[in-house]
Amino acid sequence: MKFDEVIQHRRSIRGYLDKPVPKALVREVLALAMRAPTSYNTQPWNFYVVTGEVLDRIRQGNVERTLAGVPDSREFRTGPNYDGVHRERQIGVAKQLFAAMGIAREDKARRDDWVLRGFRQFDAPVSIVVTYDRSIHGSDVAPFDCGGVVNAIVNAAWSRGLGCVINSQGIMQSPVVRAEAGIADDQVIQTCIAMGWPDPGFAANAVVSHRKSVDEAARFVGFDD
Ligand SMILES: Cc1cc2nc3c(=O)[nH]c(=O)nc-3n(C[C@H](O)[C@H](O)[C@H](O)COP(=O)(O)O)c2cc1C
Repeated sequence: MKFDEVIQHRRSIRGYLDKPVPKALVREVLALAMRAPTSYNTQPWNFYVVTGEVLDRIRQGNVERTLAGVPDSREFRTGPNYDGVHRERQIGVAKQLFAAMGIAREDKARRDDWVLRGFRQFDAPVSIVVTYDRSIHGSDVAPFDCGGVVNAIVNAAWSRGLGCVINSQGIMQSPVVRAEAGIADDQVIQTCIAMGWPDPGFAANAVVSHRKSVDEAARFVGFDD
C-alpha cells in the first residue's frame, strides 16, 4: 500500500473477525512502527502484546470494576473534561458511530452496551499495552514519544490489512491490566491498542471521522504569498 493510501483510508476499527493474528505479524508491525522518531532517540516505549485467556481476564476485570463503579485509575494526568470545540468534536464522532450502529439517543441500554464493548477492547483478538520507563515519569516527552509510536503502529497495521483502535478505556482500570499482563513495576502504562482483522459487516468500521482543515490548524509565518 502507498503511504497516502494508508493514511487516508485508516479508520478506527471497533468490530473484529473471530480470527487470530499471528505473532510474527504483530512483530513485523512493531518493527516497522518502531522506526518512529523519539526525543534524543530515547525510545522509552515498551509493549505487552496480550491475547487469549490473559486478554479475556483483562476484559472481564475491566467490565466488572466499571460496573461496580471503581473510578478511573489511569497512570498519567488526564486534565479537565473536554469543553467547547473539543467537546463538540467528541460528541460529533460519537454521533457518527451511534448513527452507523443504529443506536438511538434515548436507547440507554444499547448506549451502555457500546461503552462496555470499549472496556472489552471491542473483543479484539490482540491488545498491545504501551508502557514507558518509569525512570522518566513526570516528563511530558515520554507520553509524546509513545504517541508517535502508537500512530505508527495503527498505520503499519493498516498497511498489513489489520485494524486497530487506540483504546483508553482498556487501561482505565490499570491494576487489572498490570496484574494480568504482568507489567513490570518500572513501567508506566500509557495506553493500549486493540488489534485484529476488521469485520467488514460491522457498520461502525465504515465511519470516517472528520478533521479540521489545514487553514484552521496552521499559521504559515514568513512565507511570501
Ligand atoms: C489517546 C486515544 C485514546 C482513544 N481511546 C478510545 C477509546 O477508549 N474508545 C474508542 O472507541 N476510541 C478511542 N480512541 C479512538 C478515537 O476515538 C479515534 O481515533 C478518533 O475518533 C478519530 O477516528 P479515526 O481513528 O477513525 O480516524 C482513542 C484515540 C486516541 C488517540
